[in-house]
This record gives sequence, C-alpha cells and structure tokens, in this order.
Amino acid sequence: MTSIAVFDSGLGGLTVLSRLQRDYPSADFIYLGDSARTPYGTKTAETVTSYTRDCISFLEQFKPDCIVAACNTASALALPALREDCPVPLVGTIVPAAQECLRESDSKRIGVIATPSTVKSGAYTEVLHRLRSDVSVTSVPCPLFVPLVEEGIFSGDIVDLAIDRYLSELRTQGVDTLLLGCTHYPLLKVSLQKYFGDSVSIIECSDGVSRTLKELLPSTQAEKPVSGTRYFVTDALSPFSSIASVFLKTDVEVEVVEL
Ligand code: DGL
Repeated sequence: MTSIAVFDSGLGGLTVLSRLQRDYPSADFIYLGDSARTPYGTKTAETVTSYTRDCISFLEQFKPDCIVAACNTASALALPALREDCPVPLVGTIVPAAQECLRESDSKRIGVIATPSTVKSGAYTEVLHRLRSDVSVTSVPCPLFVPLVEEGIFSGDIVDLAIDRYLSELRTQGVDTLLLGCTHYPLLKVSLQKYFGDSVSIIECSDGVSRTLKELLPSTQAEKPVSGTRYFVTDALSPFSSIASVFLKTDVEVEVVEL
C-alpha cells in the first residue's frame, strides 16, 4: 500500500491533497495542518525551517513512501536545507509548479502571487529563469489571502477588495499565466479568474506536484482503491475540520497533535 504524507501550515495543502486523492485513489494519506502556527508566509526562513522540520519529523513516524510539502513557503525557505536528512523523498511545490507554468504559457510573461516570505525568497523567479532564460516574471505578495482562506472566506466583497488592492498593477502588465504560488490561493481561484479574465491561465501547484509523484511512485496504478486519510492539526480551536469537510465534500475528523 502506497502511503503519502502531506503537510501545510493549515488548510491550503488540502488543495494539493484533494488532487492527489483523485489521482492516487489507492494510496493512503496522512495530512498535517500546522494550524497552531499558521501563517508561515510572514515569517523568517529560520522560523519556517524550524516549523517545517517539526512537521517532517512528525510525519516520518508513519513511514510514508514520500512526504509532500504542500506549502510553497516551506518549499522555498526550508526544503533545500532539510531534504538531505529526510529518509524518504521530500517533494516540494516550486520546481513542479514552475514547470507546469512554462508548459502553459505562450508569451512567457508570467505573474506569480505568493506569501511575502516566498516572494522575498526569490525562489520562483530563480527556478523559472533557470528553466527558461527568456521568461519574464512579476512576483506579488498577497499577505491577506491566507488569513481570508483560514477564515473560510473564499469570495465576496472582502476578497474582491483584497485582490484589487494587491493585483491591480499586475493585471495591467499583460501576463498570460498566473501562478498561484501559495496552496491556499486556489480557494480564491473563482474570484481571481473573474478579476483577470479568461485570457489569463491560472496554474495551481497541485498539477505539477501530482505529475512529480507519478514519476516517483509509478506502481500505485496497480493497487486496489481502498484508500483512507488521517487528518492532524496542531490547534484544537481551528475551524479546520468544518472548512475541510466543505472543501473535500466529506466528513473530516481531525486528531490534535503537538509537534
Ligand atoms: N499554503 C502555504 C504556502 O503555500 C502557507 C501559507 C502561510 O501559512 O502563510 O505558502
């Protein structure tokens, strides 16, 4: 039985988890949302690395076949330092999402929206340029998006105001592809698509991550579909389970853990 562990600072990683559940129906999943310490995206590399190390150590006890950092902030700031010590393959979002983006973009004018820490790290700009030197990348931090999603606010006036506040300039720059460089942001995708219009392709990290796992875990197709998912959070008061149940369209029961 293939076992895939997925973590994020909170709810955002569910956008990756749900895609993986669909693409790997016979795998077992373990999901960890570090709800006690969300958001990661406004914190320093040192802090994010320490939080990410805790998440990985917790997930290692389940002996998964791989661990997916369904968090761009952790992928950008922490994974390079932690990969070597991890006993199982550690999959991040940055390279898979950048590759997906380049596949989609015709003009190679790409907008990246992400947490302040991910934008500050320059990880996406660096990888996109490494993969294709003639690409033009504009990165914009959107710090209010994660708290909105963690509150279960995915659309409406507040979301539209926040989008306009952060992205009005980017909208005028003629990008043909917008990379959602934070796994929380797909929950705002309907509003973002409305704002940018249908001529802009919106890319989520989940497509690239799923494709990467296909190369890593080729044998899952042969397994019988009997999968299950255990959900862990680090704070009991978080609205994680109710929002997750709505998003995943199934009852989500969470176990509270200390990392
Ligand atoms: N969803 C995560 C990311 O992709 C973390 C967001 C946050 O905690 O600030 O960056």
